[in-house]
Amino acid sequence: MTPLVDNFGRTHDNLRISVTDRCNIRCFYCMPEEGVKFQAQEQILSFEEIERFVRVAASLGVRKLRITGGEPLLRRDLPTLIRMLSAVEGIQDLALTTNGVLLADHAQALYDAGLRRLNVHLDTLDRARFQEITRRDDFDRVMAGIDAAQRIGFRVKINAVAVKGLVEPDIVPLARFGRERGIEIRYIEFMPLDAQGLWGNKHVLTADEMIAMISREIGALREIPEQDPRAPATEYEFVDGVGSVGFIASISRPFCLNCNRIRITADGHFRYCLFAIEELDLKALLRDGSSDEKIAAAMRAWVKAKWIGHEINSAKFVAPPRPMYSIGG
Ligand code: 5AD
Ligand code: SF4
Repeated sequence: MTPLVDNFGRTHDNLRISVTDRCNIRCFYCMPEEGVKFQAQEQILSFEEIERFVRVAASLGVRKLRITGGEPLLRRDLPTLIRMLSAVEGIQDLALTTNGVLLADHAQALYDAGLRRLNVHLDTLDRARFQEITRRDDFDRVMAGIDAAQRIGFRVKINAVAVKGLVEPDIVPLARFGRERGIEIRYIEFMPLDAQGLWGNKHVLTADEMIAMISREIGALREIPEQDPRAPATEYEFVDGVGSVGFIASISRPFCLNCNRIRITADGHFRYCLFAIEELDLKALLRDGSSDEKIAAAMRAWVKAKWIGHEINSAKFVAPPRPMYSIGG
């Protein structure tokens, strides 16, 4: 087995799989309010195609999977896919990122299929701001989803996108909620992935600013020692021993040099970066009778040529031609 190593020596063992580009809410930093064009059904990879791709990826050293969207719980029979992917030889870890709206309905079936880890996307505990951000009134459903997931026994984390001038009042209440509930809140710096080009450096609430707010209002934080350098979040624990928070500081502390992640979009395009401009059309190979060896060779070559990183902070940066919901966070 030749692993997926690029020209900068990075080994890629972490695959994010988008199973649909559809979503049932409309977070402004991801989707436009109206007129979203989704992929036609026949463009979306089937479970069998995803499983085959994952088998090839596992033969190239992929060990960790995350299911994303759009909103993955909109994909019918998702527990069946969870079962299929958990059974692939070599896969050691499987997690799912959801907006939580449908989670209360599906949590038990996902757990029964073998899933144990969930990230729920929630930016605020204030229902008015939830509606302002998502353009939907589903706050109670998300909270019910989190309750159900914890009751059933999932390890839950919360992803909160940090947009300056908007969510400052939410940072501390979320951290408090996480401490009470045994949930790590992961604050994600706002990235230029929105469909409408709203992003600008001045709209990024940085990790340092959030750390200052949390330490001032709740209590001192210290960076957890000896973290996996390849994990995108930097984690901090409260000095009083109760709970931790994480920061995905893509803008203020870019971590591209430690990246171990590759992605496949719902329509079967292979990407080596969230911000990649070019994609490899793997669906074409999955559907034209190509052998597993040919697919593996194409993936290896694609990853080998991966760029150094997104360079968001430089003048060279170009936003990717697809928005987040169609890439898969
Ligand atoms: N910037 C940062 N994070 C984003 N997400 C979606 N859009 C953006 C953006 N523009 C996050 C959501 C979701 C994850 C898949 O990506 O929090 O949980
Ligand atoms: Fe849907 Fe996630 Fe995009 Fe929000 S960020 S609109 S939940 S895909």
